[in-house]
Amino acid sequence: MDRYKKVKIYKTFLFLTILGTTSGQFAKGASFPTDDDVPMVTGEVERREDDQELQFKYHDHEEITRYLRAVSARYPALTALYSIGKSVQGRDLWVMVVSASPYEHMIGKPDVKYVANIHGNEAVGRELLLHLIQYLVTSYDTDSYIKWLLDNTRIHLMPSMNPDGFLISREGQCDTIHGRHNARRYDLNRNFPDFFKANTKQPQPETDAVKEWISKIQFVVSGSLHGGALVASYPFDNTPSARICRSSVLCSVFQSYAHTPSIAPDDDVFRHLALVYSNNHAKMSRGVSCKSGSQRFDNGITNGAAWYPLTGGMQDYNYLWHGCMEITLEISCCKYPPAHELPKYWQDNKQSLIKYLAEAHRGAHGFVMDENGNPVERASVRVKGRDVTYHTTKYGEFWRILLPGTYRLEVSGEGYLPQEVEFFVIDSHPTLLNVTLHSAKRIDGGPYYRPGPPPPRPPPAPAGIFSTITKSINSFVTNLLG
Ligand SMILES: *[C@@H]1O[C@H](CO)[C@@H](O)[C@H](O)[C@H]1NC(C)=O
Ligand SMILES: [Zn+2]
Repeated sequence: MDRYKKVKIYKTFLFLTILGTTSGQFAKGASFPTDDDVPMVTGEVERREDDQELQFKYHDHEEITRYLRAVSARYPALTALYSIGKSVQGRDLWVMVVSASPYEHMIGKPDVKYVANIHGNEAVGRELLLHLIQYLVTSYDTDSYIKWLLDNTRIHLMPSMNPDGFLISREGQCDTIHGRHNARRYDLNRNFPDFFKANTKQPQPETDAVKEWISKIQFVVSGSLHGGALVASYPFDNTPSARICRSSVLCSVFQSYAHTPSIAPDDDVFRHLALVYSNNHAKMSRGVSCKSGSQRFDNGITNGAAWYPLTGGMQDYNYLWHGCMEITLEISCCKYPPAHELPKYWQDNKQSLIKYLAEAHRGAHGFVMDENGNPVERASVRVKGRDVTYHTTKYGEFWRILLPGTYRLEVSGEGYLPQEVEFFVIDSHPTLLNVTLHSAKRIDGGPYYRPGPPPPRPPPAPAGIFSTITKSINSFVTNLLG
């Protein structure tokens, strides 16, 4: 298994190297505007010992800030630090990029991310991301796999999406909800626009910052780190039948019947991604329950809604609004375990954290261009039979993670004739797919060809049956709730 994987990685490496040289000219001199918009923090030289060795202890907000600045000062060629905004109480929502190209998007190469500590009292992920940063920057020169990963991927790591909640959380508290919410008592993982049901919760600064962030950078895969269970949970979290109830009593009755999976168009891919995390984890795939009587999960994975449905979660939003495949990683039975257990958590999750991100290099990716070779931005990219629309970036790029097989890609753009391309995906390396769109011309003096209504621009939600479903669900819910 291991040897096989090495061969596979090597092939991918070769492939990307070749791609890198052919597309070098295209990439040169181009700067990703997203990064201009996001203020970068050049690390001031802090006390040097801060980053020499990262301790296994919980770091408060000031310590995290100091650590991240120290790393960015020490590894300027591999890291960039930026803040996507501030929490309710004014703490920066830090993101550290780790990549061979930290300041600039690499055209044709994926951006990926982890977000931790969205629930302030789920503290392990916060420390794991600091250790991941440390591991990546210190391994670049010595570990060929990490070098390949950083040469071909931009990894964005947000140790805490809820620094205010963390502040009031207490080490050793395994099961409480104290510190879970933000400073205005909102659950941030119930605060995103929802596809299946209107979310009436007031948008919070932390959520708004994340929404803006992921609208500017096309992330290909993502993981949201939580605690309180040991399982990789994948979309959908919400379901058309969830929470259609007036009172909490009614809700609980409904929900006891609602534990059925809510299947995403890319269910096969999501299961695969969840399994990559679970199988590379020291114990997640055993599916052992956290304590007697609590749920156990086959292979350490579950569909979100099959576990329990929720409205306003972050993973469904990432996928349906932005074509980013996010899963939810519950990495510790205890939400805030004693610090002396942190080395064990790091060892258990290290492989998973790295291998999962590398999945961004699976499937098909490429460029949509016009007849003159110019990129077509916001072209709709759909895989036939999968009712979800992805969009190209301003460079015309798209990524579609898919398992081996034969597929048809449907590409359309405003003012262009729609195009269909058949392609196949193999396991050993990604398929490069360039699609040229021809402008819709006047034919035989007839009317202009119209490629149908322009694709909707999220928010709100994507095209397809789903939007029809949503509308009817929403009106159903509205009718029911008066
Ligand atoms: C695909 O398009 C990109 C961007 O224009 C270019 O760099 C690359 O060489 C093309 N690859 C193929 C196989 O046509
Ligand atoms: Zn959580």
